[in-house]
Amino acid sequence: MDDSGVQAPKINVHSTEAQHFVEAVLKGNGVPPENAAVIARCLVQADLRGVDTHGINRIPSYMARIRQGVLNAIDSPTLNQITPAVAQVDGNNTFGFLGAHMGMQRAIEMAQIYGIGMVSVKHSNHFGMSAWVVQQAIDAGMMSLVFTNSSPALPVWGGKEKLMGVSPIACGAPAGKEKPFILDMAPSVAARGKIYKAKRRGEKIPSDWALDAEGRQTDDPSAALEGVMLPMGGPKGSALSIMMDVFSGVLSGSAFAGHVTNPYDPSKPADVGHFLVAIKPDLFMSLEDFKDRMDFLYKRVVGCEKMAGVERIYMPGEIEQETEQRRLKEGIPYVQAEIDALNEEADRVGVGRLEVMQ
Ligand SMILES: NC(=O)c1ccc[n+]([C@@H]2O[C@H](COP(=O)([O-])OP(=O)(O)OC[C@H]3O[C@@H](n4cnc5c(N)ncnc54)[C@H](O)[C@@H]3O)[C@@H](O)[C@H]2O)c1
Repeated sequence: MDDSGVQAPKINVHSTEAQHFVEAVLKGNGVPPENAAVIARCLVQADLRGVDTHGINRIPSYMARIRQGVLNAIDSPTLNQITPAVAQVDGNNTFGFLGAHMGMQRAIEMAQIYGIGMVSVKHSNHFGMSAWVVQQAIDAGMMSLVFTNSSPALPVWGGKEKLMGVSPIACGAPAGKEKPFILDMAPSVAARGKIYKAKRRGEKIPSDWALDAEGRQTDDPSAALEGVMLPMGGPKGSALSIMMDVFSGVLSGSAFAGHVTNPYDPSKPADVGHFLVAIKPDLFMSLEDFKDRMDFLYKRVVGCEKMAGVERIYMPGEIEQETEQRRLKEGIPYVQAEIDALNEEADRVGVGRLEVMQ
């Protein structure tokens, strides 16, 4: 929306083009090709699923961190097997996507043998939309828990200062013929990325999302970014955020208790931690029975009696999956300012600009 309240026109980009473009920009910044492919896939998946706040628009801020010397572009994470069913990944301050991808891959391999695989990831970075990690597990037929901590943005219940992150809690389970269950939610009324997106697009935000620096409700994204996000459900959202810090920060050996660096702060590495679990769904019954039960649950959820004014009930993750199907065909919508910022990154490293759909 511009100052007159008009929504900025959207320009569509094919997801394959977005993938190639992001890979090229990453490689131009020193990221090895195989790592660039993983990172680009995760970012484009966020855009495909409609989680535009955590898609390829994050590239300029990530590239800035590489230039500032606080994000390691050239190395890869390393893996340490702790017990047969537990592993640890050292992110080595590379992209969070790489540490989480390596961690979930190992968790899946362990779960295939032992029924469960648990991986702690330390010295990592922002991994964007948690749902891509859940999807990685679902693609391998696994249930999963996907936790991360993040930089301070929320007060704890009763507090005034930013202390906990707006750290998403995510989990999932495959189904049979129906859609899988994919929960991926930030413990705030809204994800902070939605405020950055509103600021980038010159839009206002709902006044119950955040407080400004003086502790007043605000609809101005810039003022909100100076203040604090509000947790969902008061003490319950605050508790979930502390839970993400216990499992992802305290346990892993990464930063915690308000010490994860904000992705827009160039002074030091972020030191994010993640906690990943893969669970084989046929531990207590046949896989067929499990899938039948998931399908039954899906049908009960979406088929239940609706409250007044509701046209359709969705399973968690279903809206995003439908958006993905649509955007795979129609392309991903961006505004010109977002495309310009991405092209600036392409120009910096001398790779081709983003091709838009006509
Ligand atoms: N890596 C980080 O540090 C970080 C921090 C904050 C947020 N994020 C990401 O931001 C994204 C957005 O988070 P959010 O909390 O704003 O998500 P959201 O509020 O859009 O969705 C939260 C959950 O509710 C479900 N849902 C939404 N509407 C529904 C409906 N009508 N019926 C049934 N289910 C519905 C979604 O499928 C999702 O599982 C997430 O992908 C999250 O991982 C990442």
